[in-house]
Amino acid sequence: MALALRRRGDQLNAQQAHGVLPASRSQLNASSLAQFVDRLPIPEVIQASGHRPSPDNASVQLPYYKVAMRDFERKVHRDLGPTRMWGFAENSPGPIFEVRSGKGTLVEWVNELPKKHLFAIDHSIHGAEADKPEVRAVVHLHGAKAGPASDGYPEKWYARGKSALYHYPNDQEAAMLWYHDHALGINRLNVYAGLLGIYFVRDDFEDGLNLPSGKYEIPLVMCDRIFDLDGKLIYPVSGDPKAPWVPEVLGDAILVNGKLFPYVEVEPRKYRLRILNGANGRSFHLTFSGPQTAWFPNFYQIGTDQGLLPAPVELGRIRLMPAERVDLVFDFSSYAGMNVVLRNDNFNAMQFRVAAKGEQDRSGLPKVLRPIAKIPETSAAKTRMLTLVEFDDAKGRPIRTLLNSAHWNMPVTENPVLDSVEIWNFINLTNDDHPIHLHLVRFQILDRRAFSVRTYLSTGEVKFVGPPVPPDPSEAGWKDTVRADHGMVTRIIVRFEGFAGRYVWHCHILEHEDNEMMRPFDVMPR
Ligand code: C2O
Ligand code: CU
Ligand code: CU
Repeated sequence: MALALRRRGDQLNAQQAHGVLPASRSQLNASSLAQFVDRLPIPEVIQASGHRPSPDNASVQLPYYKVAMRDFERKVHRDLGPTRMWGFAENSPGPIFEVRSGKGTLVEWVNELPKKHLFAIDHSIHGAEADKPEVRAVVHLHGAKAGPASDGYPEKWYARGKSALYHYPNDQEAAMLWYHDHALGINRLNVYAGLLGIYFVRDDFEDGLNLPSGKYEIPLVMCDRIFDLDGKLIYPVSGDPKAPWVPEVLGDAILVNGKLFPYVEVEPRKYRLRILNGANGRSFHLTFSGPQTAWFPNFYQIGTDQGLLPAPVELGRIRLMPAERVDLVFDFSSYAGMNVVLRNDNFNAMQFRVAAKGEQDRSGLPKVLRPIAKIPETSAAKTRMLTLVEFDDAKGRPIRTLLNSAHWNMPVTENPVLDSVEIWNFINLTNDDHPIHLHLVRFQILDRRAFSVRTYLSTGEVKFVGPPVPPDPSEAGWKDTVRADHGMVTRIIVRFEGFAGRYVWHCHILEHEDNEMMRPFDVMPR
């Protein structure tokens, strides 16, 4: 295999997908649709259907939820026909979980999906061979500190008619987690079909901050898609019917909570906006714009993937890679009677219609949020050097990006000891930025530093060509997904807490993940 360096994927305005459209389908031009004609849906909060004993302690009863994955039709826009999609409890995004820190939950995830997939399966991909059932699913709660048996390991998929009962201890700080399919080799297709949803962990500390809450807190799940003229989902293919996988999918239609260009009515006051990038591969560059297009009001970021920042950070623009979350406070009080638009690059995503008057705003935006103790570098028991490398296949197509040049089924190489601290260096030799995610843990970003890719490829030495760049203030909190910039070494520091057992780490561009940019890791018992 030859090392290849390629430039692709970061032309965020180029509304093209890599690959071709399946035969006889014409793509809808999303910008031709009327904007702001559909109300923003907010997924319902799911109610427990009873109680069951905790697997940790049979005398403790935990709330038990049962959620079916199903196929259904939903309108994504007033002027489009219904879209066939997959979701949880007949919704995409699925129902919202509201749980308290330290109070465990049991969730039975049931596969009631149809026999045929909505999209073409690539049987040449590891784990998606033709002897496997076409439709398989397994649910992972992204950001959860859960035991290995409840983590949704990609090989633990199950077919239609089967289910898995998972235990989430929720023994972690308040944060917006999200659940999504993780089935080996078809994860990108299952999530694109709609298998994702939000899971809030709340705690007393956060409650004590008096942040905007209730109807003044709005979750926004953003993902890009491609539709045909009838409103059906299109997932592009390579043109080779034996190997339809494409390296990246960028759609021109942005769903916010399952609608295109929705609007929401708000009061002139502070709102808390919880945004998830649920896209397969697109990074979002978000701004707000007021009645004059060249006017970008600032907002405050108060949290990251894994919870609150030490202090609010004032920003005018935010970049979110796939799977990253951001917790914002936006103050609409100076825009009474006006409209504010949330934009991605130069494209409108949704609209906030600010009422002329509202109830008095009694919420706060404290100057100090949640203190975060830095994990000292001296506490690290081990430092790992891990490369992100892109390879061509035999036909010279840019095929797959690997972690440390290793395939999924090679022996486990990352095996931290439970409760130990490690520093992981992501040495990005590709020409793309990759969002790297570790299951089970939360971590802190130490820095990013430019190095010579050329020197590394010829000698295997990391030769730095620039100073270390500290994380952005907006990243100075607990993360579970980190942007590993091209041409940089990105360092994170992690304490492997919670459970021993087998987990995975991977790139969260789902096309990469499915084609082996994912590796198991073992947390070893002490
Ligand atoms: Cu969003 Cu392996 O996870
Ligand atoms: Cu995860
Ligand atoms: Cu990647």
